[in-house]
Amino acid sequence: MENNLFELARKRRSVRKYAPGRIDDEVINEIMKVAAAAPTSFGHKPVEYVVVRDKEVIERLGACKVRGGSQINGADTVVVVMVKTADEKAAEFWIEDGAIASAYILLAVEQYGLGACWVHIRNRMGREATSDEEIRAILGVPDGYTVLNFVAIGEKGEEKSPYELKDLPMQNIHFEKF
Ligand SMILES: Cc1cc2nc3c(=O)[nH]c(=O)nc-3n(C[C@H](O)[C@H](O)[C@H](O)COP(=O)(O)O)c2cc1C
Repeated sequence: MENNLFELARKRRSVRKYAPGRIDDEVINEIMKVAAAAPTSFGHKPVEYVVVRDKEVIERLGACKVRGGSQINGADTVVVVMVKTADEKAAEFWIEDGAIASAYILLAVEQYGLGACWVHIRNRMGREATSDEEIRAILGVPDGYTVLNFVAIGEKGEEKSPYELKDLPMQNIHFEKF
């Protein structure tokens, strides 16, 4: 049976090395449309994004995560995913809401043959403060929002094999009873 989404999902791998090349603005807009279509708890739509394409700002953002943040250097675009946690309705499910939107971005990126990687930010440290605080200061994000992660996007600078069915934890899927 044809399963286009599985074909996309099995090809999607974390790409951490990026080739030079500017992604069209239109492609980035299409990818962000997919993120905006992600489900959110109670339909509150509390996830916000700052799409950063300025190389210098990308480097500064990477420096906000002391251990491992520099991996975003070389990406064409970094999507900073955040949620309005000050909003009581959004606070309960903020991680889930941000994570689902990020997963949508990762799949959408693969659809355009581009590479991406989730770079974790929640509970990570910068040089002077938490990664979240340092990132929000750079981007001018008002109080009341919390950054969950980055999704770094670029032309693939490394090739990874798509998953085959045998690579996937199909044994973790139980029907009717564990
Ligand atoms: C919640 C979460 C946090 C992650 N954090 C990072 C990270 O900080 N840096 C990184 O390089 N990859 C990160 N990843 C990517 C995983 O390492 C990657 O998905 C995993 O190794 C499987 O590889 P694949 O994406 O190629 O299937 C994260 C993924 C998830 C879902």
